[in-house]
Amino acid sequence: MRRVLSLSFLLYTLHLGAEEESFMSLEEYGRMLYTQPRGVSCATCHGTCGEGKVIARYHEINKLGKKREQIIKGSDIRGIESGVLHKALLKGPSVMPKYYLTQKEEEAIVYFLKQCAAEGDEGAH
Ligand code: HEC
Repeated sequence: MRRVLSLSFLLYTLHLGAEEESFMSLEEYGRMLYTQPRGVSCATCHGTCGEGKVIARYHEINKLGKKREQIIKGSDIRGIESGVLHKALLKGPSVMPKYYLTQKEEEAIVYFLKQCAAEGDEGAH
């Protein structure tokens, strides 16, 4: 009896879990993709809401022997157009890796970036 009870409890919990997933909003889905798309998070380089972030700083010595600081920065992509996003993901401009996401995943990221910037989340982190 006990076993039956715990099994049905488990099924119930699984069911709740599945339901929760299907009720995930487009913004939540976009946030999930933005923060962990196949392991290389956009947020690492573009900041929490796409506001941009310094990835690395280093010094370079030019031909004249002058030391100059170089900064590699993930661009500000708040409110980015889906076409621009699509091209950037496919080309991986230079520093950025390439990503193969579905149209739906790209739409969710575009939507998330708009919402996140509008809600002013970037100040919170
Ligand atoms: C390793 C750091 C890195 C990661 C991870 C990364 N990017 Fe980028 N991204 C960049 C850099 C740097 C640029 C500027 C162009 C360049 O030098 O590659 C850029 C450019 C872009 C652009 C073009 C901006 C413009 O105005 O043309 C978009 C859009 C973009 N990234 C979106 C994303 C999304 C969405 C993800 C996650 C799926 C992501 N990036 C992951 C570093 C990164």
